[in-house]
Amino acid sequence: MGRSKMIIGISCLLASLTLNSGCQIQDKNTDKNKNTEIRVGVLLYNMDDLFISVMTQKLDEGFREQEKKEDFKITVNFSDAKGSQTLQNSQIDKFIDQDYDVLCVDIVDRTDAAEIVDKGERADVPIVFFNREPVSADMKRWDKTYYVGTDSEEGGRQQGELFLEEYKKDKESIDRNGDGIIQYVILEGEPGHQDSMIRTESCLKTLKSAGIQLERLGTACANWTRTQGKEKMEGWLQGFGDTIEILFSNNDAMALGALDAMEENDIPFGQIKVIGLDGMEEAVTAIQEGKMLGTVLNDADAQVKSIIEIAISLGKKETPTDIDYMDSHHTVRVPHRIIK
Ligand code: GAL
Repeated sequence: MGRSKMIIGISCLLASLTLNSGCQIQDKNTDKNKNTEIRVGVLLYNMDDLFISVMTQKLDEGFREQEKKEDFKITVNFSDAKGSQTLQNSQIDKFIDQDYDVLCVDIVDRTDAAEIVDKGERADVPIVFFNREPVSADMKRWDKTYYVGTDSEEGGRQQGELFLEEYKKDKESIDRNGDGIIQYVILEGEPGHQDSMIRTESCLKTLKSAGIQLERLGTACANWTRTQGKEKMEGWLQGFGDTIEILFSNNDAMALGALDAMEENDIPFGQIKVIGLDGMEEAVTAIQEGKMLGTVLNDADAQVKSIIEIAISLGKKETPTDIDYMDSHHTVRVPHRIIK
């Protein structure tokens, strides 16, 4: 690739990640070797979200890698809904007007997919939802809709199992006041998000089923963010200090925020145990440094692989087959794994 084309490519990515520019048309006309093109629109619910920013990067790299293996051009354009369903709906209209072949949608409001599915059906543009799972009634409206995500119940259960493994090994270091009851706080993602409600429920259920007695000191939504995770933990530290024995967090970003709060309040790392979810790089480092007990991998690589395979196959007007973990309802649930 010539230097000038590489510069155009990089500026296209940056522009498209933020502005959803029309750079791809330049790209298309300068590539003489590939005579056909698949156009993929990727719609993110909010690119400030740590896990989503990682997914975005991997999707961009993955589609580029895939393009090298195909004899057609793959144009990918990203747009950020910044948490607004109204904005996302208009971004969808724009992609459809520009003749995109397939849309990969991280929907803002998972209860509101009907309109998007209907837009796709009217224009015959298939939709691969990911990360935020539409309700099944909406998925059933059209047979060219797919979903790639995880089993939220399994994610929460593995957080619980991680706790149990550590508790069996060293009860005293978790139940520090020795009362046989675990004083805990829990940071939840967003109200109404499958990965909040179900992860929380199944994590606590796993502990209760194993006979662990629990005392909840606090629960709060921190919208998946490090800043809000820190704020909520600060409040709990004011109220309960280090009588908190464990923090469960629906994701790593909020758990990292809680660590920030502990650091500012001079609580030694490792005293209050912390369990997150996602397997973000910084969380894995925090585990290695003894600041977190563990996390559960939300496998972005495997999810990205499935999204790309499904999107490319739909873009070629084929029916996706041989997709890892895909069931008969067009749903892919990538397994989790404990990291500690
Ligand atoms: C979850 C992930 C969170 C957050 C959320 C956004 O699957 O664990 O960190 O990114 O998706 O929908």
